Amino acid sequence: MMLFYFRCFIFFLVAIVTEIQCKNAALVIIDVQLCFLPNGSLAVPDGDQVIPVINDIRSKHKDKFSLVVLSQDWHCSDHISFASQHNEKNPFEYIQLLYDDKGLLCDSTHNCSVVKYNITQRLWPDHCVINSTSADISSKLTRSFNDLIIKKATTAKV
Ligand SMILES: *[C@@H]1O[C@H](CO)[C@@H](O)[C@H](O)[C@H]1NC(C)=O
Ligand SMILES: *[C@@H]1O[C@H](CO)[C@@H](O)[C@H](O)[C@H]1NC(C)=O
Ligand SMILES: *[C@@H]1O[C@H](CO)[C@@H](O)[C@H](O)[C@H]1NC(C)=O
Ligand SMILES: *[C@@H]1O[C@H](CO)[C@@H](O)[C@H](O)[C@H]1NC(C)=O
Repeated sequence: MMLFYFRCFIFFLVAIVTEIQCKNAALVIIDVQLCFLPNGSLAVPDGDQVIPVINDIRSKHKDKFSLVVLSQDWHCSDHISFASQHNEKNPFEYIQLLYDDKGLLCDSTHNCSVVKYNITQRLWPDHCVINSTSADISSKLTRSFNDLIIKKATTAKV
């Protein structure tokens, strides 16, 4: 479980890309979504404590960032990393996923003639599903109209 918490902590890390004095600095805010916050479907304990820290950085260094990016986990409901998509598997167990040389998943709908990638995938509870409230970015986070939002993990088999 420690590993899990560590991993999720990394999700929440506010990365300040390039030096803060630099003209082209960007502030990248990773996955501060209801699903990862307390009471969320994949909650990180005390994850909400990062919110005032981020808001503080934004208010104190307003002029330092030419770009603010917010990422958003945006999973289709049948995402392969969801335990619910695998028979007799529970959240937090691991499975191997095989992909061919074209990056296509080897499964019952696709026989791979070559296996190029053999990936260990940790399984998660369903979380941050497209268009669900759970996928919303926390309303407690300071936002600006010109923030760039990057939605990710939108493909079912990747
Ligand atoms: C989580 O849910 C409990 C029970 O519904 C509620 O009392 C608590 O305030 C909620 N916490 C957060 C951070 O939303
Ligand atoms: C994959 O190969 C198996 C065994 O050769 C065959 O039974 C099955 O129909 C194939 N599936 C597809 C999608 O080609
Ligand atoms: C994939 O990796 C796992 C774990 O290392 C191994 O047990 C399994 O045999 C590998 N499968 C293939 C098809 O290479
Ligand atoms: C999400 O909502 C948008 C806008 O209402 C809609 O166009 C889209 O089809 C929805 N996506 C899914 C997967 O439900």
